[in-house]
Amino acid sequence: MKYNFDEIVDRVHEDGSYSSKWSNNERMAKMFLTDKLPEDRLVFFLADMDFRCPPELTASLVKEAQHGVFGYSSVPEEYYQAVCRWMRDRFGMEVKPEEISTARGAHSAIVNAIQKLTKPGDGVIVPRPTYYYSDDVMSIGRHYCGFQMKNDNGYYTYDWEAFEALCKEPQNTMAIFQQPHNPTGRAWTDDEIRRFASICRENNVIMLCDDVHMDIKRKDVEIHPFIKVVGPEGIVMITGINKTFNLAGLAVTNVIIQDPAIREKMGHSWGGMSPFGIRACISAYTECDDWLDQLNDYLDDNIDYVVDRFHKELPKVKVWKPEGTYILWLDFTDCGFTNEELDQRIAGQAHIGFSDGAGLEPPAGTLFRRMCVPCPRSMLVDAMDRLVKVLS
Ligand SMILES: Cc1ncc(COP(=O)(O)O)c(C=O)c1O
Repeated sequence: MKYNFDEIVDRVHEDGSYSSKWSNNERMAKMFLTDKLPEDRLVFFLADMDFRCPPELTASLVKEAQHGVFGYSSVPEEYYQAVCRWMRDRFGMEVKPEEISTARGAHSAIVNAIQKLTKPGDGVIVPRPTYYYSDDVMSIGRHYCGFQMKNDNGYYTYDWEAFEALCKEPQNTMAIFQQPHNPTGRAWTDDEIRRFASICRENNVIMLCDDVHMDIKRKDVEIHPFIKVVGPEGIVMITGINKTFNLAGLAVTNVIIQDPAIREKMGHSWGGMSPFGIRACISAYTECDDWLDQLNDYLDDNIDYVVDRFHKELPKVKVWKPEGTYILWLDFTDCGFTNEELDQRIAGQAHIGFSDGAGLEPPAGTLFRRMCVPCPRSMLVDAMDRLVKVLS
């Protein structure tokens, strides 16, 4: 391996880290049920990697810093060409520069799309469990319409009847999908994508595809963007470099709309880029393929390691290997703990920070946690040793 994903980066103390998930504040202390954060804590709750980004990309940002003037920026043609190249070479998807808009982060793009493409009071459909969209939807006066997916031992599929029933309600005018899905890790098959799209199109429901995890996948899995499978009609696709290259702090998001009617409604008002964001995206999409391929290999091994240990040593925790993303959706329902007992053991005793499952909207009466594993393997070895000790 050319890149060293085993390196431990000290995101607590190293100058310039400004890491949110490793910070020392009240919110973090609360997560660990204490006033004083444990020094030996391990945090896995945020979709944010503990790896340095590709060295080629860092070098491009140093070059940008040396320019020394960081005024209002204009996105150059080279940027759009880089996005087109990435989509073509990595996904077999032809995109034209005029079909791309830039936004500062996926959330701002999602809110903008909901605002421009639906009306106050309209419903936005979201399959559950889900990443956090409820605030995006409700903060601008739309109804949030969730429905549960089917869960077969950790393998999630759509409840088509429930989905179609919601699409048929005329006030529901948009549905949010992800390819691949956070937190279940599903990478939807072409058949599933065709079925989503045909139900949406029959009922005039706009598809908002949040594909920010599309570059992260297992070796034997292909990620097919919705537009590639079913064509552009009625689809807004959101992608970017934030997750793939650990650049969430730069907030670089690309919105691809190939349906001219939707593009006209949206206009180009998605928010400007910073010069660092521009430079980072050009570098990511032109110089960093190798790094990403090696990252995916490393993540495959991380996921195998953690899932195998759960299966062998904590078999009551149900977990399924995700097809895409670096996220594990851990089902503790059959372990016999209450939510508080589980917190006491995991956060209080093992000093491990997971996302509380309830925020990701699983069915009532279940007990989930979300674990993101894009970190050096040694952290996972330590975490699994601790978990086995407190949960066995
Ligand atoms: C599916 C999904 N969408 C959107 C986001 C937020 O992305 P951004 O930081 O670009 O707003 C995340 C972050 O974890 C995510 O997992």
